[in-house]
Amino acid sequence: MAAAAAAAAKRALLPWARNGHHALARVIGSGSGSGSFRGEFATAGRRWSLLQCRWRSSLPAQLESTDKSDEDSGGDIDWDNLGFRLTPTDYMYVMRCSLEDGVFSRGELGRYGNIELSPCSGVINYGQGLFEGMKAYRRSDMQGYMLFRPEENARRMQHGADRMCMPSPSVEQFVHAVKQTVLANRRWVPPQGKGALYIRPLLIGSGPILGVAPAPEYTFLIYASPVGNYFKKGLAPISLVVEDAIHRTMPGGTGGVKTITNYAPVLKAQIEAKSRGFTDVLYLDAVHKRYIEEVSSCNIFIVKGGVVTTPATVGTILPGITRKSIIELARDRGYQVDERLVSIDDLVGADEVFCTGTAVVVAPVSSVTYQGQRYEFRTGQHTLSQALHTALTSIQMGLAEDKKGWTVAID
Ligand code: COI
Repeated sequence: MAAAAAAAAKRALLPWARNGHHALARVIGSGSGSGSFRGEFATAGRRWSLLQCRWRSSLPAQLESTDKSDEDSGGDIDWDNLGFRLTPTDYMYVMRCSLEDGVFSRGELGRYGNIELSPCSGVINYGQGLFEGMKAYRRSDMQGYMLFRPEENARRMQHGADRMCMPSPSVEQFVHAVKQTVLANRRWVPPQGKGALYIRPLLIGSGPILGVAPAPEYTFLIYASPVGNYFKKGLAPISLVVEDAIHRTMPGGTGGVKTITNYAPVLKAQIEAKSRGFTDVLYLDAVHKRYIEEVSSCNIFIVKGGVVTTPATVGTILPGITRKSIIELARDRGYQVDERLVSIDDLVGADEVFCTGTAVVVAPVSSVTYQGQRYEFRTGQHTLSQALHTALTSIQMGLAEDKKGWTVAID
């Protein structure tokens, strides 16, 4: 019985795990599509068997019978029409931690699928959760993959976890988990120029808590999906409408961290904007209703003459990793970059406006509508946003030399 379970476990592990690189992962039970994983955790010299993570694959038959994770191709995926929507991949990474312990130990890869959560979990009841967004690109020579500044995402998650009273993985654990997730799902990394594997690390209060307090248990989970362009019209310039009634965040709130609770509150304004033909919404500060903050899923920049300006990260603005990289690339090109309060008057007087984010990359803005008045901006060839888009994506895809040490190769 034990030998049969061990053989089933070995079969279920990935090729590199079979070779001993992931020796702690052990599958208990068998059967297609559901089972339970037990992680064996080694902490400070102690070795103990901790949490049991029950899982149920949402794609059991397909995955069990066609496990192609060690092939280097995505089969019949239509790489030309990816868009930004979920294409379920083969594996996800899961790591757990109790509040009492406060430290994450070894995590493991499992089949991608639904997770089981207490109805009373901190994340469902009180929104105790964070996420990150990252991309892995296929290298131009088709050998291996590239991540972009993954340590920055890890550190941002740690900062957010502090704000949301959650333990968080170390930078090393985070980056290791991301690499494992990419390798396990490597057949889903689009060919170069077709898109990227979008990686979504989550940190959630998964334990039950009835009164308002930190959850007793936390889950760090990473799933991935191949994606193309974020906005429906691809790389075409976007049109924004300024929202002055609904706010994304407020001073003292959580706008400066990537909590899940920053996103549902913008849906109402976003749906309304889309129904009126706009691509997305630009939010104003909640106090003066005068300073621009962010778009629903990205940071914003304005360009006037040789000066590039973006709202300062004073607690209500997400410190975007693309934002930070674009500031550096613009300065390298001789632009003065100011991080400060940016009023709506500054915006409407700009020559050029663009948005940045992992998902949107660098998106030129063709118009902003404020109180019924539409303001237009320069787009297309010879704009700064286009030059920055090319500079950034060339580094991310390995087409240009990475003089900054921003990329991390996964082979
Ligand atoms: C990202 O750019 O990764 C984001 O977090 C945007 C997401 C809300 C779609």
